[in-house]
Amino acid sequence: MRVKKVLTAIFPVAGLGTRFLPATKSIPKEIMTLVDRPLIQYAIDEARAAGIKEFIFVTSRGKSALEDYFDSAPELESTLKKSGKEDLLEVLKGTNMDSGAIVYIRQNRPLGLGHAVWCARRLIGDEPFAVLLPDDVIAAEKPCLQQMVEAYAETGGNMVAAMEVAPERTSSYGVLNIGEDMGQIVKVKGMVEKPKAGTAPSNLAVIGRYILSPKVMTNLNRMKQGTGGEIQLTDAIADEVADGNVFGYRFCGQRYDCGSKAGFLQATVAFGLSRPDLRDEFSAYLHDMAASQKTA
Ligand code: UTP
Repeated sequence: MRVKKVLTAIFPVAGLGTRFLPATKSIPKEIMTLVDRPLIQYAIDEARAAGIKEFIFVTSRGKSALEDYFDSAPELESTLKKSGKEDLLEVLKGTNMDSGAIVYIRQNRPLGLGHAVWCARRLIGDEPFAVLLPDDVIAAEKPCLQQMVEAYAETGGNMVAAMEVAPERTSSYGVLNIGEDMGQIVKVKGMVEKPKAGTAPSNLAVIGRYILSPKVMTNLNRMKQGTGGEIQLTDAIADEVADGNVFGYRFCGQRYDCGSKAGFLQATVAFGLSRPDLRDEFSAYLHDMAASQKTA
């Protein structure tokens, strides 16, 4: 099968981030740092590894720190150069984006993830595109989107990242109704956004990585309000199910829900422990802390 390459990614970052108030009153959630890198950097690095060349950010009021983050910082660079801090200079250069590679567009009101993606419709044309939600951070040997791009080269259609969750957690996710289970890839025969307790069609949940056909944009044109009165991306993808064009991909890796406080803290610990420069000191601290909690 000849499948078009996925070269464009949409990063919907226009949400209010209310679960992190008051911090998100002035700091975009996507700029919050795991160890020393903002969430958005993890998503950008993952997209680059998957071969993405065009980056579309769907932003909103109060997100200017995000735009500044990707600007070059000539003063900082020359200071680091003068003081011989080549390692930091390299780190800094890793955040630079090519001129013209990033487009920022505005979502004027937070009407839902589907609406945020739809805001990018004029930039997508007739090409497949990826969607990455930066608050889902995935630690994996091979970055998650790269795994999906490789699988998508075989299937075409639409692909969503999927993972098994505990049955009592399904009501927090989009959930797949599995048609055919081929192991790592499942053919999807239905999708439900945040099913009510006890009604989920499976415990295979969608998480924030997607490869979508331009047809999904056309479906979003209908502006159908779904769960919570929001325009749901899940519903626009589910419209493609009848044509046998939707696949779930069980990725290899550990996903952290950095949109929630508990998930963010877990990710901070995991990424801190995975860093050779921090591991010994940090794990000794955690060890002592756990011991003192036990005796308290
Ligand atoms: P969330 O459901 O996490 O919402 O959005 P949120 O507003 O970011 O955070 P809370 O729930 O208030 O704490 C999932 C992703 O979809 C984007 C968000 O920016 C996030 O990346 N989103 C959501 C939009 O871009 N626009 C929307 O209207 C809704």
